[in-house]
This record gives sequence, structure tokens and C-alpha cells, in this order.
Amino acid sequence: MNAIRVPVSLGDHSYDVVIGQHLLSELRDFAEAEKPTTILLVTDSNVRPLHADAIQNAVVANHVLTVPAGEASKSLDQLGRLYDDALGTRRLDRRSLIVALGGGVVGDLAGFAAATLLRGIRYVQVPTTLLAMVDSSIGGKTAINHVTGKNLIGAFHQPAAVFCDMHFLRTLPEREYISALAEVVKAAALAGPDAFGQLERDAEHLLARDLATLVRVVETCVRFKAAIVSGDERETSGSRALLNLGHSLAHVLETVFPDRYLHGEAVSVGIVAAMRLSVARAQLPASTAARVRGLLARFKLPLDPPPELAAAKLISTVASDKKRSGDVVNFVVLSDLGAAGGLPCRLNDELASLLLGTTHA
Ligand SMILES: NC(=O)c1ccc[n+]([C@@H]2O[C@H](COP(=O)([O-])OP(=O)(O)OC[C@H]3O[C@@H](n4cnc5c(N)ncnc54)[C@H](O)[C@@H]3O)[C@@H](O)[C@H]2O)c1
Repeated sequence: MNAIRVPVSLGDHSYDVVIGQHLLSELRDFAEAEKPTTILLVTDSNVRPLHADAIQNAVVANHVLTVPAGEASKSLDQLGRLYDDALGTRRLDRRSLIVALGGGVVGDLAGFAAATLLRGIRYVQVPTTLLAMVDSSIGGKTAINHVTGKNLIGAFHQPAAVFCDMHFLRTLPEREYISALAEVVKAAALAGPDAFGQLERDAEHLLARDLATLVRVVETCVRFKAAIVSGDERETSGSRALLNLGHSLAHVLETVFPDRYLHGEAVSVGIVAAMRLSVARAQLPASTAARVRGLLARFKLPLDPPPELAAAKLISTVASDKKRSGDVVNFVVLSDLGAAGGLPCRLNDELASLLLGTTHA
């Protein structure tokens, strides 16, 4: 199978996303062409024993730094370890290269380190989760978390290349894999009827992790995200913000019920709520909303908020969100597949009922 290259066009910092199976030689060629002075491979404790040796050998990485698996590693502590290692022990210079091998946690952490070390060094994303392949590895958003919220300390710093190797997905736990399918459904719904219809046809093969289907689906998501990022790199014109479809309620669920949901699971519930809002306030046909819900259901993703989530708690949690202005919050809604927009919504009981599915006004 020949690797597919999707360009992310961003002037001086354009790069390719390479998609395929067994991409070690492509990665090796890239690293050789870069001629970095040092290569630091950053990975996590789950991925390291499974995949790090092959990557270290391919790029001849001088050193591997392993962070504990999990969201808690997007922290000042782990960032400090990375800085100490990079600057103290390894003496990285401005021609050094960081290779981020892992899911979104490793990509966000290593990317932020690369953004800030020596005012910015180059880094490569080698995503090993489906979520990282279809979403987090592309677009240059890097961040760590702060006690007051997720991703609050960060930078835009585009990778020098991204290598989406389907080989890694063989070892990805089922729950992580399924969770990422919510972001795949989101991308397809935003991309339009063709992409969504194709995903509906691909659903069974995707659940079986069929290679050709995976490559096609990842390529579709990458092309879609690349186009959005190319048009609105820093989320200033509004189009990149459309990627937040389903994310307002997802953030509420992740905040109110920490540890209950994986990100994609919360996004799935958020997408279904956004469809209810879209039907009520953006003229989305109910049949289209039902198709979106139906596809998430086929992936066995959660669809409804937990009954114990009270309207008042929902409102107060949305109100403390960082993207709020006054008591109005911008929600992403669809008027059709491929036709998304921002909808300013006043935070009140009616909105809460719509999001919770306790009314169909
Ligand atoms: N930068 C962005 O644009 C962006 C976009 C979306 C999400 N994110 C961030 O991404 C993070 C979530 O990413 P994620 O879902 O990839 O989580 P993750 O990085 O925590 O990976 C999920 C789990 O899978 C394990 N794992 C990874 N690859 C594996 C493999 N091939 N085989 C076996 N186990 C493997 C990890 O060790 C971890 O336990 C969040 O921190 C989120 O904020 C960033």
C-alpha cells in the first residue's frame, strides 16, 4: 500500500500528513533529510514497550523520554522533566528535533515543549491513537493543563510532519478506539453529505478496524481538518471554532463527572445535544439529526446525558467556560450536513432542557 500525503498549507510552516501502514521508511527518510543535531523521542508508559523501539531505531533517536500514560501528564511537572532532560542532560539546540510518539497527551505535551524550548524547535507527530490521527496531531495546537482548566497553557506550533501509521492501531484498546469514532462522526457531519454517507457505509468495516477503510476514513478526516486549519490557523475567523461541534456539553460532562467519560464519549453525547439544538433553532431536519444519532449509536457510543446532571449544574458549568462572553455562549449548530455555524445562546432553563433532552421545543 502506497502512503498518502495530505498537505497542510500554511505558508512558511506548511507540512505533510503521511497516512498508511508501516511508515518507518518514510519517517527515516524524513529524519535524515532534516539533519537534526539531536533527536529526542517523547512517548508514554503504555506506548513505549509496544512501539518505541521501532521508531527509535528508524529515526536513530538519541534518547527516549517516557511520561506516565494519561491526561495527568499534560502538567507543569512533566513539562519540567522534559525541559530538564532536553536542556540539561541532552543539551538540545535549535537544530534538534522532537518526535512525539503517542496519543493526544504526548502530542500536546511534546508539541508545547517544542514550541517553547529555545523559542521553538521542530517536532514531528507520530500519533498512535485514532483520536490523535484524525484530530489532535494536525493543526499545531499544543498545550498542558492547569488546575483551573484543560489546555489553558499552550501555543500554536505546527509540526514539521505527521505520520499516521495504521499499524499502531492494532494495539489500541477498544474503548479508546470507539471513543475516537465520535470525532470521526463529527468531522463527517461537518464535512458534508458525501463524507457522512461514506462513513455510514464504512461503519461495519471501521468497527472491525479494516485497514483500507481506516486509511480512507483517516484521510477524509485529515483532509477536512487540514482545509479548516489552512483557512483559520489561529481560530480567529471562526471556521476553526466549528470543530467544537458537541464540545460545549462534552466539557460540562468532563468537568462534572471526571473520570467517567473518555473525551470522545463525552463528545458523542455533546453532538447528540447539538443536534437537538440544531433542530430546534437552526432548521436542521429532524431526519438528519436522527441519522447522526443513529451512526453514533451504531458505534455504541453514549448518546444521552446522565439523568443525574441537573439543569442548574449544566448552566453553571457552561457559564464558567473560558470561551463565554456575558451570559451568552456560542454553540456550534448544523442547518444541514456540511452547513455549520455559531449560534449565540442565552444560558437559561430552556437551553438546558434542550441540551439535556428533556424537551423538544
Ligand atoms: N491539540 C489538539 O488539537 C487536540 C485536539 C483534540 C484532543 N486533544 C487532546 O488529546 C488528548 C487525548 O488524546 P488521546 O485520546 O489520544 O489520549 P491519550 O494520549 O491519553 O491516549 C489514550 C490511551 O491510549 C494509550 N495508547 C496510545 N496509543 C496506543 C497504542 N497504539 N496502543 C495501546 N495503547 C495506546 C495511551 O497510553 C493512553 O492510555 C487530550 O489531552 C486532549 O486535550 C488535543
